Amino acid sequence: MSRSAHPAGPRHADVLTEGHYSAPAADLNVLDEKVWSRTVTRDADGALTVGGIGVARLAEEFGTPAYFLDESDFRARCRAWSEAFGPDADVFYAGKAFLSRAVVRWLREEGLHLDVCSGGELTTALDAGMPAERIAFHGNNKTVAEIERAVEAGVGRIVLDSFQEIVRVAHIARSHGVRQRVQIRVTVGVEAHTHEFIATAHEDQKFGIALADGQAAEAVRRALALDSLELIGIHSHIGSQIFDMAGFEVSARRVVQLLAEVRDEHGVELPEIDLGGGLGIAYTSDDDPREPHEIAKALSDIVTRECESAGLRTPRISVEPGRAIVGPTAFTLYEVGTIKPLEGLRTYVSVDGGMSDNIRTALYDAEYSVALVSRTSDAEPMLVRVVGKHCESGDIVVKDAFLPADLAPGDLIAVPATGAYCRSMASNYNHALRPPVVAVRDGEARVIVRRETEEDLLRLDVG
Ligand code: LLP
Repeated sequence: MSRSAHPAGPRHADVLTEGHYSAPAADLNVLDEKVWSRTVTRDADGALTVGGIGVARLAEEFGTPAYFLDESDFRARCRAWSEAFGPDADVFYAGKAFLSRAVVRWLREEGLHLDVCSGGELTTALDAGMPAERIAFHGNNKTVAEIERAVEAGVGRIVLDSFQEIVRVAHIARSHGVRQRVQIRVTVGVEAHTHEFIATAHEDQKFGIALADGQAAEAVRRALALDSLELIGIHSHIGSQIFDMAGFEVSARRVVQLLAEVRDEHGVELPEIDLGGGLGIAYTSDDDPREPHEIAKALSDIVTRECESAGLRTPRISVEPGRAIVGPTAFTLYEVGTIKPLEGLRTYVSVDGGMSDNIRTALYDAEYSVALVSRTSDAEPMLVRVVGKHCESGDIVVKDAFLPADLAPGDLIAVPATGAYCRSMASNYNHALRPPVVAVRDGEARVIVRRETEEDLLRLDVG
């Protein structure tokens, strides 16, 4: 293949036979609204604005790298989810995607519930005033201290994940003189079409209790026999970043079958089922996520149908979207530091962050988009790999993308759809300082999680 040299890297047409990228968008200046939060647009000078504020001002005031979270988009997505599911269902935001006290307040104001999976998340939720009865507590290995804290706080439900935990929670509830509301998490045996590390309903993994070999029915038997537990339902979460509703349908069907078995064996109709989270979002223009109302309809239709055929009352449904709410609402803003064209391959664009603020590319082979946002450009597209500043060649933020060939050090570029699992999985690798999260709304920007400082690093290092 002939590859022509280009001052800032190879021309895209010469390298399109390699990699997993699509052809460049016809106009790199156009921001695909699928991947950007709702208030993002370009101003008259071509700079990106969010919530009415331009990126140059944001970078100057808050520095880079930084996550900018579009608060009105976040709130709108909360409302879209709760309106789609209606009054007979509960939407639990999965706090692991991104949690802060401001987020908890927004959730509370928008009427959502909250799923937490650690003592730290529980503390954040309670501290910011989430009513305990609207909290679900998850995890495959909750510590005794965490369970005690959750029971004392009066959380609305604890999701039991193992036989040991049934006994442990029952014991703690009894010693606190309460009857704790619980669900049992089952693995329904669905192979979700997503990355292996984020698929959770096949049997060979650490979460849940298997339906297939009667283990889940046995767990129900044991939970029903314990006075200090009030078994309110069955929980299933099949994985994350899933677009195909088929897995959810199989999962719902199998959970309803278990409800029917429980009714037949114990004469009890469990009143709730939770179908977990995991709904996919658009990271690139190639992704086509479903809208909340389509998801709600698909799930409630299948549950209603299966319950009718089993002669069961339709249980109250809950869902736990994390990524689908917060993911699209934020972008990460970086400053370009160095640009290294590799003849015949691609151009490496290094930014001032990297795998410490977005581990998803390295960990899951996740795909992201990127755009030049401090200005527009009419230069030709060049194939780039956006990399960080860490001492590791796997430190990749965006594996394959196109940016204008006149990109220069000092330009600001932004990676959209980084609201979920980026700040929450951020690390201090190479003693990087974790970036701030800045909420932007109606022309105002405020830090909701501040940037780490070197003093923070030294404070933990007790010498
Ligand atoms: N419910 C349960 C029980 C979960 O385990 C999870 C995610 C969710 C809800 C929310 O899933 P979501 O709607 O956000 O996909 N770090 C990975 C994702 C791990 C998800 C773990 N559990 C990533 O960056 O893709």
